[in-house]
Amino acid sequence: GERVVFNNLEIKPGKRVEVKGYIPEDCKDFSVNLGKDENNLILHANARFDFRNDKRVLACNSLKDCEWGEEVIMDIFPFQLGTEISLSLTFDTEKVNMIFSTGEEISFPVRFELDMINYVALRGLIFRCLTSE
Ligand code: GAL
Repeated sequence: GERVVFNNLEIKPGKRVEVKGYIPEDCKDFSVNLGKDENNLILHANARFDFRNDKRVLACNSLKDCEWGEEVIMDIFPFQLGTEISLSLTFDTEKVNMIFSTGEEISFPVRFELDMINYVALRGLIFRCLTSE
């Protein structure tokens, strides 16, 4: 599926990143990935509409030197096929918060040291816009 990658970003703790996209009708899963580079992610948020045994499951994980950490299944799934989504992300040294347009929010611990986010990648979504302030 579609993949949009931003490199060489310099998003410091305390900043907000907004991502907008469209979830295709036939989306099986999409992910929002934040970190240093593609092999070092503080957050991989994977919305699984239909992925292996997972139906409508939001799974989060970290990736350090290409190794997945322990996957955490969130207790919300605020996504609908064929709709626009807007996500607002903030992070500090301890956690990443992700707020959805529906008002729901998740928090995921930062599992390794990272001074700033240099890399954002979106997979499975039709990309609309990325902003940081
Ligand atoms: C794996 C999946 C990866 C990633 C990871 C997160 O099963 O293949 O794409 O989502 O889980 O824990």
